[in-house]
Amino acid sequence: MKQIAIVTGASSGMGSDFARQIDGREGIDEIWLVARRRARLESLAGELKNARAVIIEADLSTDEGISIITAKLAAEKPSVRILVNNAGYGKIGNFSDLSRGDNLGMVDLNVRTLTALTYDALPYMATGSSIIQVASLAAFLPISTMAVYAASKSYVLSFSEALAVELEARGISVTALCPGPVATEFFEIAANKKDHGMKGLVPSSLVVSRALKAAEKGKAAILPTAIWKLTAFFTRFAPRKFLARAAGRMM
Ligand SMILES: NC(=O)c1ccc[n+]([C@@H]2O[C@H](COP(=O)([O-])OP(=O)(O)OC[C@H]3O[C@@H](n4cnc5c(N)ncnc54)[C@H](OP(=O)(O)O)[C@@H]3O)[C@@H](O)[C@H]2O)c1
Repeated sequence: MKQIAIVTGASSGMGSDFARQIDGREGIDEIWLVARRRARLESLAGELKNARAVIIEADLSTDEGISIITAKLAAEKPSVRILVNNAGYGKIGNFSDLSRGDNLGMVDLNVRTLTALTYDALPYMATGSSIIQVASLAAFLPISTMAVYAASKSYVLSFSEALAVELEARGISVTALCPGPVATEFFEIAANKKDHGMKGLVPSSLVVSRALKAAEKGKAAILPTAIWKLTAFFTRFAPRKFLARAAGRMM
């Protein structure tokens, strides 16, 4: 039986780095690269030296997109060694100023699709397999001007921590990755402009290598830098209203 890794949102940012860093890991025959931009996936596939790259062009905010992966799993019955639910986006702006489509789209992709793919991949996972769910530092606090995004990532963290306990007996690890600002296309899309002005961005490859190490160790959650750990710790003591306002100002 072939052993595979699935990486959603592989066409840029952390998803591309997950694919690059999973490539060459022992026992991974294929990496399924999922996103909408086929040309980007093809270029990434050309970089992979060890595992066979399988390109899956899919809009994961739709049921049709999700079912492409589900149907492929059912047809090929691989052993899924690593599932990285990474595809996601955030939009900056007051809830009522953002479009209805953007607000609901974040719930669809960040929450619904991540849940569906976790459910659909689990029957193909065995002892020693890992699930990495890309949450965010935003999971720890409400953020005005990113209300839906922060709430969607709180879901990812809570869901993943509970699932980690449920899957312990099966020897499957679940790790919620909770990064602060990372140097990817995220803020360009969030702010709708190239010059978004976000400072202190951490390299994506560093965040990804720390996430993969945490998954190997079976950690339920990973905040990849000291400052992000400290921020998450501080959120336990600050009033939620203060956090929502202060974080919104930073955005
Ligand atoms: N960068 C940060 O500061 C940061 C911090 C915390 C958490 N995160 C989280 O990290 C994850 C990865 O984001 P990133 O920072 O690497 O940003 P990115 O460079 O914008 O990558 C997002 C990826 O998601 C894919 N995607 C978006 N909509 C999709 C859809 N409808 N169907 C399929 N794929 C879709 C994109 O591919 P296509 O456009 O080709 O479909 C792209 O590959 C996200 O879940 C994000 O919320 C990011």
